[in-house]
Amino acid sequence: MRDPVDVAIETAREAGALLMDYLHRPLHSTQKGRRADLVTDADHASERLIVDRLRKQFPESTIVGEEGGIRAGLASERWYVDPLDGTTNFTHGYPMFCVSIAYEQDDEVCAGVVYAPFYDELFVARRGAGATLNARPLRVSGVDRLADALVCTGFHPADFARNGEYFRMMSGVAQAVRRDGSAALDLAAVAAGRFDGFWEFDLSAWDVSAGALIVRESGGTVSQIDGGSFRVDGRAILATNGHVHDEMVGALSTPL
Ligand code: IPD
Ligand code: CA
Ligand code: CA
Repeated sequence: MRDPVDVAIETAREAGALLMDYLHRPLHSTQKGRRADLVTDADHASERLIVDRLRKQFPESTIVGEEGGIRAGLASERWYVDPLDGTTNFTHGYPMFCVSIAYEQDDEVCAGVVYAPFYDELFVARRGAGATLNARPLRVSGVDRLADALVCTGFHPADFARNGEYFRMMSGVAQAVRRDGSAALDLAAVAAGRFDGFWEFDLSAWDVSAGALIVRESGGTVSQIDGGSFRVDGRAILATNGHVHDEMVGALSTPL
């Protein structure tokens, strides 16, 4: 069997090149129901490519892709694929978009790859062996007070009201708050020490599985927003450099 990390890297790079190709073409995009929930030809083409490559190397594993749903296989071996994270950014030519691929064995994510093709930034984590950005070791920031922290969030298309309140509150207690539009890259930015923390209420396993491992392997902490143990299907994620984790759990559990 080939190393899942190598396969994920090769596949993410190939899918990233495909996305860059689509970036310069007129796109066909449709709404998946809500105004800000878009899907384009590029999302579908990228997922087809990724599933094809993973299937060739791991014919028996289960693949969970955002656009194509679950392709059932072995329950003990699962891939989570977001073929284009940051679709709204992508449709506007805003470069914060990426491919996210994670490999899980026996309910434990053991490989995570996030590739941002516009920047040619490749984030890779292997469970227990650390994380890298373009082959250089990653480390979270050392900021240890929320008042000094740059934090980030995202909004599910159906969750502007609730998280809008938390965005406003956090803007008063952190140094500053950002919203960049790609959960996988937001997590990678925590791992790289660019953000000190990231939270979002309603994400899926394909958004967070790779990024959460990258944060942990960079020395950061990942939990549910209420501080409970992180699960890839737990929806509400908090990822930080570890130092501001408790303060963020406290702030985000304040009823508003
Ligand atoms: C979205 C992005 C965004 C987050 C949304 C996700 P998509 O993923 O990660 O940052 O706020 O909740 O749905 O649709 O671009 O793959
Ligand atoms: Ca996504
Ligand atoms: Ca997507």
